[in-house]
Amino acid sequence: MWVTKPGARMLAASCLALMSFSTTAEPVSEGAMLSITCNGCHGPDGKSTGSIPAIGGKSADYIEKALLDFRDDKRPSTVMKRHAKGYSDAQIKLIAEYFAAKK
Ligand code: HEC
Repeated sequence: MWVTKPGARMLAASCLALMSFSTTAEPVSEGAMLSITCNGCHGPDGKSTGSIPAIGGKSADYIEKALLDFRDDKRPSTVMKRHAKGYSDAQIKLIAEYFAAKK
């Protein structure tokens, strides 16, 4: 029995470590997590200054509709069609709200 004890103690220690990590770390919303991949093309906070359209600060309705249309092949696109396919309706809503808040 004593053999399992150090393991149990380790487990308890790592649970504690995880708990303290989640209480001290900056809270990251699901919308922010889902939007990380967009920044590579659309710029930080969606504020692209290059040839790819800026999306930060556009209305949530506009972004949501654009993503749904790209995903469902209702709007022509080069890359967005493939990119939007990875998200559910609920995730698209979260992403849209996240970028709309980046005024
Ligand atoms: C590989 C680069 C790339 C990535 C990654 C990318 N986009 Fe795009 N996005 C584009 C391009 C290019 C367009 C123009 C339409 C097209 O050709 O696909 C576009 C267009 C858009 C538009 C329409 C903008 C307008 O003014 O009508 C929205 C909204 C959008 N992207 C949102 C997103 C979101 C949200 C993500 C992350 C989930 C994302 N994009 C990830 C390249 C990218």
